Amino acid sequence: MRAVAALRIICSTAILSVGLQATTAVAGCGQHPGYQPVSGTRTSVIELKPSPELAALGQRLFFDTRFSATGATACARCHEPGYAYTTPLRANRSDNGRPGRRNSPSLLDVGFRPALMWDGRFCSLEQQALGPFESGEMGISVEHAIERVRSDPKYVDMFQRALGSFPSVDGFTRALAGYQRTLFSRESRVDRFLAGNEPQVLSPPERHGLDVFTKRAGCTNCHQLYPVLPDGLRSPRALLTDFRFHNIGIGYQGDRNPDPGRYAQSRDAADWGAFLTPSLRNVARTAPYMHDGSFTRLEDVVEFYSAGARRVPNLSPQIRPLHLDGAEKAALVAFLRALSN
Ligand code: HEC
Ligand code: HEC
Repeated sequence: MRAVAALRIICSTAILSVGLQATTAVAGCGQHPGYQPVSGTRTSVIELKPSPELAALGQRLFFDTRFSATGATACARCHEPGYAYTTPLRANRSDNGRPGRRNSPSLLDVGFRPALMWDGRFCSLEQQALGPFESGEMGISVEHAIERVRSDPKYVDMFQRALGSFPSVDGFTRALAGYQRTLFSRESRVDRFLAGNEPQVLSPPERHGLDVFTKRAGCTNCHQLYPVLPDGLRSPRALLTDFRFHNIGIGYQGDRNPDPGRYAQSRDAADWGAFLTPSLRNVARTAPYMHDGSFTRLEDVVEFYSAGARRVPNLSPQIRPLHLDGAEKAALVAFLRALSN
């Protein structure tokens, strides 16, 4: 008996490490961004644990609408704290009014993510911080933004305190990244339940939902419940993602110009229509759902999975009809809501 149990532990450890290696490769960003500056970034230094001065500077930049042509756009316009740093819209318009295609992801726990954006095109928050300027979302260039920073004595002082230097593009992206690495989700009732000492903290339907989530519906194949990161680091809590890209059948039907997702980065036909698995922490606050914001309610998402998604080319083999009954669907929704803090 004992030998069998020991063997099981060895086997599951082996599977775990193989899975993690593969995940790192698939996410496409090598090591955890906090440990390795990524080539192609315009920044040289990455702070995993930002100083309070750097985080305070980044916070001020994040909420400052002066870094836009209209004076109405800040990062926070599309990442609102009250909605777990998303917005309640399917997609947001750029500063110049151009409609966006994709739904704003939550920025909670973003410091743990090895690849950023729905298609994983950025490998660090420093690199990402230039994106909204280069894509026109802010309506001005980052150089223009730095000019505005330099003309404000308060900012000049904050850059001096945080980085010991005059405002620069490098410092600007480091500060925005530093602030975002302080955005953590708090403990949910599911975390407390999984910690093992409080079985009553989830209601009977929520516990039923956890069971459906992990077993019958196989949601944990992608939204993993163990708190491990791709390079073997541990996050304090389960992030409910595998950091991989999957095509689950969103955004094809009736779309004459479908979003190719990860394919646009990898040019690998297997990645057509695949998107990075989102975390489900605080999912009750991040509606609407999916990369295109096409579902408004968690009930709709569960209905979609239960039906086995849509028959689209390149659908993940892990997506199949589940035929959940009414009680199972309701339980799954109750469980998803309990993932919020
Ligand atoms: C006009 C709306 C808009 C503005 C303004 C905006 N974002 Fe975003 N943000 C988005 C959308 C949409 C995505 C997902 C885009 C994609 O996947 O292609 C995103 C993605 C991100 C991500 C990746 C999150 C993840 O989990 O992958 C980060 C980080 C981020 N934004 C930070 C910022 C910062 C910092 C600023 C300000 C400099 C900013 N955003 C301004 C809409 C916006
Ligand atoms: C094959 C991997 C996979 C499986 C299995 C899976 N998901 Fe997902 N899930 C994803 C991916 C990838 C997305 C984003 C897809 C997109 O936008 O195109 C997603 C999106 C979601 C979202 C939307 C989150 C947001 O912030 O937009 C919810 C909710 C969700 N899944 C719940 C579930 C539930 C419940 C199950 C089990 C019934 C499940 N998932 C099974 C990979 C998976």
